[in-house]
Amino acid sequence: MIKLIDPAAITLVEADPKCCQQLRRRFPQVTVLEGLVENLLDELVVPGEPLVLVSSVPLFSLTEEQRGAILSAYERIISSARQCRVVQFTYVPWLPGAQARRFCGREVGSVWRNLPPAWVWSSTHTS
Ligand SMILES: C[S@@+](CC[C@H](N)C(=O)[O-])C[C@H]1O[C@@H](n2cnc3c(N)ncnc32)[C@H](O)[C@@H]1O
Repeated sequence: MIKLIDPAAITLVEADPKCCQQLRRRFPQVTVLEGLVENLLDELVVPGEPLVLVSSVPLFSLTEEQRGAILSAYERIISSARQCRVVQFTYVPWLPGAQARRFCGREVGSVWRNLPPAWVWSSTHTS
């Protein structure tokens, strides 16, 4: 991602403080926010601007309530962006429920050399 997009235009949200420290060390030009994405996302989006949302939150290990809160936050920002490209990773080749399917769209690839293997989902949303 860092090779494709100006790092100054990238904002990362991560819940784990140690992981945040590592990300800041490794990608000093990127903005790293520590916290829960469902609490921070609404502040990040500029309404009417295009948006690329790349998510690796572990949809399957969250409680149903947490998953619903995250996916609802994603859906809110998608609807306020002019155009949005969504990319989500999972470690199983399916998605947990209708809201995730609506948000993540279709499978666009699998990465068997990842440990564990990963599936990549993507969709485009236009307001
Ligand atoms: C599968 S790991 C992905 C790690 C790394 N971001 C990557 O893409 O390689 C999932 C990460 O999501 C973070 N996470 C889980 N729930 C979260 C939430 N509600 N908000 C922000 N980060 C969360 C975990 O701390 C963990 O680092």
